[in-house]
Amino acid sequence: MGENVTVLITEQEIKKRIAVIAAQISKDYAGEDVCLVCLLKGAVIFMCDLARALDLPSVEFDFMDVSSYSGTTSTGIIKINKDLSDSVEGKHVILVEDIVDTGLTISKVIEFLTHQQNPKSIKICTLLDKPARRDVNRFNIDYAGFVIPDEFVVGYGLDYEQRYRNLPYIGVLNFS
Ligand code: IMP
Ligand code: MG
Repeated sequence: MGENVTVLITEQEIKKRIAVIAAQISKDYAGEDVCLVCLLKGAVIFMCDLARALDLPSVEFDFMDVSSYSGTTSTGIIKINKDLSDSVEGKHVILVEDIVDTGLTISKVIEFLTHQQNPKSIKICTLLDKPARRDVNRFNIDYAGFVIPDEFVVGYGLDYEQRYRNLPYIGVLNFS
């Protein structure tokens, strides 16, 4: 098919790192209830594993699907394909993302949630951080699994044209 995948982060490494992040989140929110907001579809697998490693009294799930367009303005816009099912007013929200690349998507989602809803707090937890292409810096990444180089990666939820999401590891997609 003219593509191949070389392993960048193994299944074991992902598992170990998620345990560390989950322990940190459990410590930071000790005794508190949180709502994990998964950004579809890429963050699904990460959120499932992260959620099961959390030690907190109550962990709710919700899901959003957004697409971003850089368009002609530097700020860009996002289209909400699927909004939250329930209000997150007064809740501690942790946005769970697969990868922060330019930063446009996550910054717009934060803006949207902050204005439309009135959460008690919002933090970002991303599996991957690709800082090389960062355009928008109006947010802080509170929890990041791995900082990766400027490569196109797939697996563990991340896709190329909707494929490869089911790989248990993260790999670099090479085109030949
Ligand atoms: P941002 O708005 O540029 O930060 O884009 C983030 C979104 O772009 C992610 O949620 C992914 O869906 C997608 N994306 C960015 N880099 C990659 C990659 O290397 N592999 C797969 N998807 C990516
Ligand atoms: Mg995504």
